[in-house]
Amino acid sequence: MYQNLTKDEILSKLRDPDSSDLFAEADRVRKQYCGDEVHLRAIIEFSNYCKRDCLYCGLRKSNGKLTRYRMTVDEIFCAARNAQSLGYQTIVLQSGEDDGFSTDELCGLVRKIKKELDLAITLSVGEKTYEEYRAMKEAGADRYLLKIETTNPELFKKLKPDSDLEKRSQCLENLKNLGFQVGSGVMVGLPGQTLEDLTDDICFFRESDFDMIGIGPFIPHPETPLNQAKKGELNLVLKVVALTRLATLNAHLPATTAIGTIDPAGRQKALMCGANIMMPNATPKQYRRFYEIYPNKICITENPNDCNSCIQNMLRSLGRKLGAGYGHSLKRSMVKKG
Ligand code: SAM
Ligand code: SF4
Ligand code: FES
Repeated sequence: MYQNLTKDEILSKLRDPDSSDLFAEADRVRKQYCGDEVHLRAIIEFSNYCKRDCLYCGLRKSNGKLTRYRMTVDEIFCAARNAQSLGYQTIVLQSGEDDGFSTDELCGLVRKIKKELDLAITLSVGEKTYEEYRAMKEAGADRYLLKIETTNPELFKKLKPDSDLEKRSQCLENLKNLGFQVGSGVMVGLPGQTLEDLTDDICFFRESDFDMIGIGPFIPHPETPLNQAKKGELNLVLKVVALTRLATLNAHLPATTAIGTIDPAGRQKALMCGANIMMPNATPKQYRRFYEIYPNKICITENPNDCNSCIQNMLRSLGRKLGAGYGHSLKRSMVKKG
């Protein structure tokens, strides 16, 4: 049984230059456990201010070259309403760790969107206290996205100096205990990351039973200390997606924007080796180019309508169906909660 792959077996699959059988098996498991539906989560990147200094990220506070923006609550609400009018049933509200946006404001916005637009809401605003997460859950947020980034504690500390692996794991634990559907994930190809580290990441996903797992390549940003590093390789990223599918069976796995950035057909390839989610950009066009986590991000010159039709065409060409409903977690505990 693939779900019981040993560490050595996972490692040898990561080393194997021929991944065709692995990809075919991951596609089969995806079809069996998740079906052909692809659920869409419209992402609204509402602020690029960040108080942290992650070495990999273009939004880090030390990047003085970035033009900063913070959308107003009204602008975010309008972007959410526009996403709803395009047919999306989930929005992801993501930002840097921006203290200029208080938890109260964020909670007020969540309440208003839930009441007036009836969308499923994912928040992705970084490491917060238990109380802050609780307030967000009570306001009506359904899900939370917080990538573990890497499970290697030394690498984590080096790349994210103002946090540590334990703290990040505790945040994920808190989110789970509060009843959020929890998304996590890693970057593949981080400088210093080994195939053994990626094996540990996949085992971590299997143990943690996350509702969603986002896997994408690390892409070096010129205005960061990692500007000379190599980007993550497409085939390795796809192998991590495929092995995560085999290890977790029914976790939601997005074909990430970062995969689409390193290869024009990257997202399609991911959808064919285990992925079942897409995250179309619903950020108003005028802000998109400033949410520059990494360079050459796709969809910078498009508007939300363009991305919507692009993704519909993509799914049609792959013979996949648009997901109906909110696309909640497929994990049994969540299904029971409705
Ligand atoms: N600030 C929040 C956080 O860090 O969790 C949410 C926003 S952050 C920009 C979202 C994700 O971007 C991170 O979890 C990280 O995996 C990804 N990211 C940042 N820099 C990246 C890079 N250079 N290449 C690929 N992904 C990157
Ligand atoms: Fe800030 Fe998130 Fe970027 Fe780190 S990854 S610098 S916390 S936006
Ligand atoms: Fe944005 Fe294709 S998804 S243009």
